[in-house]
Amino acid sequence: MSSLTPIRFQPTDLDTMASAEGRVAIIIPPEGKMDPAARRANRLTKGAVARLVESEKFTKAKSGQVIALAWPAGMAAEALDVLVLSRRADAAEARKAGASLAKLQGVAPLHLMAGGQNRAEQVALGIALRNYRFDAHKTADAETAGDVVISHTKSEEIAEAYAPLQAVAEGVHMTRDLVNEPANILTTTDFANRLAEMESLGLKVEVLEEDALAELGMRTLLSVGQGSVSPSKVVVMKWDGGEKDAAPLALVGKGVVFDTGGISLKPAGGMEEMTMDMGGAGVVAGTMRALALRKAKANVVGLVGLVENMPSGEATRPGDVVKSMKGDTVEIINTDAEGRLVLCDVMWYAQERFKPAGMIDLATLTGAIIIGLGHENAGVFSNDDTLCNAFLKAASAEDEGAWRMPLGKGYDDLLKSRIADMKNIGGRPAGSITAAQFLQRFVKEETPWIHLDIAGVALLSGESSYAPKGATGWGVRALSRLVQDHFE
Ligand code: BES
Ligand code: MN
Ligand code: ZN
Repeated sequence: MSSLTPIRFQPTDLDTMASAEGRVAIIIPPEGKMDPAARRANRLTKGAVARLVESEKFTKAKSGQVIALAWPAGMAAEALDVLVLSRRADAAEARKAGASLAKLQGVAPLHLMAGGQNRAEQVALGIALRNYRFDAHKTADAETAGDVVISHTKSEEIAEAYAPLQAVAEGVHMTRDLVNEPANILTTTDFANRLAEMESLGLKVEVLEEDALAELGMRTLLSVGQGSVSPSKVVVMKWDGGEKDAAPLALVGKGVVFDTGGISLKPAGGMEEMTMDMGGAGVVAGTMRALALRKAKANVVGLVGLVENMPSGEATRPGDVVKSMKGDTVEIINTDAEGRLVLCDVMWYAQERFKPAGMIDLATLTGAIIIGLGHENAGVFSNDDTLCNAFLKAASAEDEGAWRMPLGKGYDDLLKSRIADMKNIGGRPAGSITAAQFLQRFVKEETPWIHLDIAGVALLSGESSYAPKGATGWGVRALSRLVQDHFE
């Protein structure tokens, strides 16, 4: 597992600038006004900083951009990074700026002389988020990230403001590690073990094995995993940080550790990407980690359904009819529409056992959501405007793309089955919506609910502002903020 390098905060001492190794960063606002650190850097470099500020490169730079001066004369550092950022930058701008710094950092140590910068803790979060590598399986070039030091006129205040943000960054890194991990390593058992390890953070973790799931009647979930040698499991993680009897928020995640499609086998091209089909469960795990680390004053329960969708002589066939824990029967037309079969039982169990104040499920559920929204936004489906708007606001504040999609009876009708209560697919049109309609059949009238289809945002083939190529950890920040703003 990769680990988050802690960031140290210290009072400003300009006299260390000349001898600091690695990269030294200073902040200059777009209008060019230099603070004491910038003036010192300018003096050491015999006016190079002032020349930069007067150049077109600087005047055309966007806020949040970094201009690197390599091997600056008069300094021991290999680079002087000039971060263009308004002194009064808001949280989002500051975070993005931190990410741009981290992108350049590599393995070198970084010393950011942040002066009296507003929201410097968010700059730190940006650094922490972008400073991620998944090199668990690289035997040769595994590298550890360089140390990060931020000096600030109010370093203690900034360190305090950063502590809960570091917890969130740790959660994001955990989600990325889980999503990046291949399926021969992250089996259902390995996944459950990693979650059980979070007991040390004060979470209560229970692992329900197949016999217990059968006892509960979770036949749709079990039908997905029955072709695999890996046992299906449901893991329940409880964080009781709120009032003793207050109803919790329930987070439910799809944890298909590998999705071959089952008997409705997927084509070979790109199938390796289906190691990320446990992305919903990964976000639930990372969010629970963040909440525990920052000791959130809320009751939140995370539930994940861990299964592997494999073809075999024991696998579910197209045409099979199975009964869900709720009691409704499902005709399985396509064994590749398996995520909903896992979620419907876990969602029903979550409501029966915890009577949650709200329920949010996350799943890499449909390829169709990628056709609809690309990799910019997750699909958001909800039966409750208040909860939904609160989530959309949290996602927007955290720069995590989220776009609401419709639900409606006309879509639900597409799930009618000739021989059972419903089919598991609704056909090609509106594939993401019919998937959501399927889930809604397992949501009680009184439960405010959001379904997040994260198939397009959980893993990216290119780098994004806050993450290198691969798993993004999308959702951990938005969910942690939603809990903070509405459940604490
Ligand atoms: N795990 C996939 C969805 C997916 C696709 C996630 C691409 C990430 C990237 C899901 O289980 C699936 O196979 N969905 C089918 C549903 C269809 C059979 C109705 C799909 O989207 O094709
Ligand atoms: Mn599938
Ligand atoms: Zn799937």
